[in-house]
Amino acid sequence: MAQQASKAAARAEAPITAPTLCQMKRDGRPIVAVTAYDATFARLLDEAGVDVVLVGDSLGMVIKGEEDTLAVTLDEMIYHARAVRRGLRRAHLVVDLPFMTYQVSLAEGVRNAGRLVQEGGAAGVKLEGGRRHGELVARLTEIGIPVMGHLGLTPQSVRALGGYRVQARAPAAAQVLLEDALALQQAGAYALVLEAVPRELAHEVTAALEIPTIGIGAGPECDGQVLVLYDLLGLDPRFQPRFVKHFAELGEQVVSAVGRYGAEVRARRFPAAEHGWSRAVAPRPRARRGPRS
Ligand code: KIV
Repeated sequence: MAQQASKAAARAEAPITAPTLCQMKRDGRPIVAVTAYDATFARLLDEAGVDVVLVGDSLGMVIKGEEDTLAVTLDEMIYHARAVRRGLRRAHLVVDLPFMTYQVSLAEGVRNAGRLVQEGGAAGVKLEGGRRHGELVARLTEIGIPVMGHLGLTPQSVRALGGYRVQARAPAAAQVLLEDALALQQAGAYALVLEAVPRELAHEVTAALEIPTIGIGAGPECDGQVLVLYDLLGLDPRFQPRFVKHFAELGEQVVSAVGRYGAEVRARRFPAAEHGWSRAVAPRPRARRGPRS
């Protein structure tokens, strides 16, 4: 009993790796994944015990305010990955290969994935699409870069898909997706994101694979779940598609907090005496980094 408890404690502290995630599937332990884009939130997610932190190209929307993910660049991904990396101790850091950084040639895909690892500190890279990327997945795996796949609604193909909608509802499309999932596993992928697919299909894929599936809008039978951080925190109260649950309403709290700050500034109630210095008190040793230190 005591031995089991100390094993569980050691496990809770140890950094999560690609093999850890496969072990979690075998143990039936659900994988908790969330996106992050900066060091402050990364630190909070790590503290909350999140297993996988994904620097998703969703940053095109939630950070840059764009309509889709298509204009996100590799340099932007590296910039955000480095920030997130600094906030993490235990969680597994996965970084998206953005649109057009792995579709042109195998060599470009390898070089760009390498930059996410070398410059961004990624422990794994994620790419969208199935068997057409088999060769790239195999090459990256062979050189030691773990690859996470992404099937179903693949946002980088939004123009071809005609919008953000549920995928693989028809039996033929479901069969294609299942075969793509098996092909990615065969090529060496260590995990697979399933986005916006019917629950039954996600269940079938999860049962057919040895590697874990991480669902978003794919039902509870996946081996783990992922959500965009800003969605689960309710930072945009208007954005609540079916697959998102707001676990907080931080958007409203931010507006309220900043509103109260503004009111106190305008009424000259902030800053109060305790938020500053006066010549009346003995000077403290000189701050090295300004008023915060
Ligand atoms: O870019 C992203 O945030 C993602 C998740 C939604 C899976 O790919």
